[in-house]
Amino acid sequence: MLHTDAWWRDAVIYQVYPRSFADSDGDGMGDLPGITGRLHHLKELGIDAVWLSPFYPSPQHDAGYDVADYRGVDPRFGELGDADKLIAEAHGLGLKVIVDLVPNHTSNEHEWFRAALAAGPGSPERERYIFRDAPANSWTSVFGGSAWEQTPDGQWYLHLFDVSQPDLNWDNPEVRAEFLDILRFWLDRGVDGFRVDVAHGMVKEAGLKDWTTTSTILGGLDPAGPPPPMWDQEGVHEIYQSWRRVLDEYEGGRILVAEAWVAPADRLARYVRPDEMHQAFNFPYLDAPWKPAELRAVIDESLRANDAVGATTTWVLSNHDVVRHASRLGFPAGTPRMPGIGAGDPQPDAALGLRRARAATLLMLGLPGSAYLYQGEELGLPEHTTMPDEFREDPAWERSGHAERGRDGCRVPLPWEADAPSYGFGPADASWLPQPATWAEYALDRQQGIPGSTWELYHSALGLRREHHLGSGSVTWQDGEFAFRNGDVLVLTNFGAEPVELPAGARLLLSSEPLDDDGRVPTDVTVWALV
Ligand code: NOJ
Repeated sequence: MLHTDAWWRDAVIYQVYPRSFADSDGDGMGDLPGITGRLHHLKELGIDAVWLSPFYPSPQHDAGYDVADYRGVDPRFGELGDADKLIAEAHGLGLKVIVDLVPNHTSNEHEWFRAALAAGPGSPERERYIFRDAPANSWTSVFGGSAWEQTPDGQWYLHLFDVSQPDLNWDNPEVRAEFLDILRFWLDRGVDGFRVDVAHGMVKEAGLKDWTTTSTILGGLDPAGPPPPMWDQEGVHEIYQSWRRVLDEYEGGRILVAEAWVAPADRLARYVRPDEMHQAFNFPYLDAPWKPAELRAVIDESLRANDAVGATTTWVLSNHDVVRHASRLGFPAGTPRMPGIGAGDPQPDAALGLRRARAATLLMLGLPGSAYLYQGEELGLPEHTTMPDEFREDPAWERSGHAERGRDGCRVPLPWEADAPSYGFGPADASWLPQPATWAEYALDRQQGIPGSTWELYHSALGLRREHHLGSGSVTWQDGEFAFRNGDVLVLTNFGAEPVELPAGARLLLSSEPLDDDGRVPTDVTVWALV
């Protein structure tokens, strides 16, 4: 890690999903004291920063991405003092803390939306949202169904997500001022940055023209098609420029990370120009099939586009919105990413998925730039692919008319101890989503100190990544196999059916699976070697 304000350029950032990380009070849902109590595990793993998904007061219709109060902590997760303690404890351990900011929409229980409903049509309160006398168009919600909902007095409001998530009107200066103030509120409390939800959605094209293409979670925009009137509008950039000016008033390198489903890479890179955000999630990388040519192309394209604006490139394989990569990669290479998996759906090959996931992670951590990990991937956790449907909470499940299982399968509480209630997630037997009966083997206490475990693989990789400065290096492709040099390290992944030899003189540093008896790299294995 660079010990400068540019800490983020090569940082490994670990996503904590507060509901499912650790439950301190036994209500079956994770909380901030639970996170604080286990931060030392993350320090030991070797990460640089944590990103916390929303913990703000919320009716939880979209697992907290429906924020009712941007300056508080939901009682389910603790209180404001617990956030302060978490930040202080993390800083004491040398970990940075990034919080989630949800500016595209509020909860319908936010005081502004309540006031808007009470004040009625034509009021300044309604001007903070996007109200019309009739639906202005046929836009659909990302979670399914219409993006317009009627209120009791007959007006309609826009919600690009759930009906409980009314879109804010970013043409209104009051909305802009409010978010500048929210930024300062958390910066003053010491946070090191913000992950900005739906960063490409806040500004809508004037006139709200009709648009019939359906948008999906993390679905990149079609670079060949006409620009959608609700995504990636030019106007979003001046918002981030104004936010950047606020962040730059603070010391220590505070950052903005864009969650923007934007293509092609040059379009996405516009979010990370020098006076805007610092990073953007690389969803094309997450979505690349397990195929060497496609992976190489997306790596090259990502590095080129980010280099062109002087930004660092990020890499990510899993998060709380997608099927975990240990399961995704258990389907034939090239299978499109599915919106959740249920008992009646085709099931992944778990062993193949884990093998490829370990290889994919080692490949990712060998790349220069910043990498995002999602809690549990260091345990090799798979998706819960047979969760009974009655437990599902993702609004996409209902709004899609049960066409999409949704994202609950990647949000299951973590297993910490094989033989404890809820595998050590908390003192209670039950957790808000059920844990599969087979998860004892993934528990942290079954992996720490066990050679070859996935946790030990991540631990070794993060240590070597730091030691060899891979995060601040560069990619030089080698002839022949899928292999590149990053500084003094060769990163080689075998996508072929036959084992491959390491170059003469190469000294093995780390391997996602053991080499074969002849010292060759087997299929679906990544190695790091000194050359
Ligand atoms: C993206 C978040 O990652 C997702 O979980 C959420 O449902 C939507 N934005 C809406 O806020």
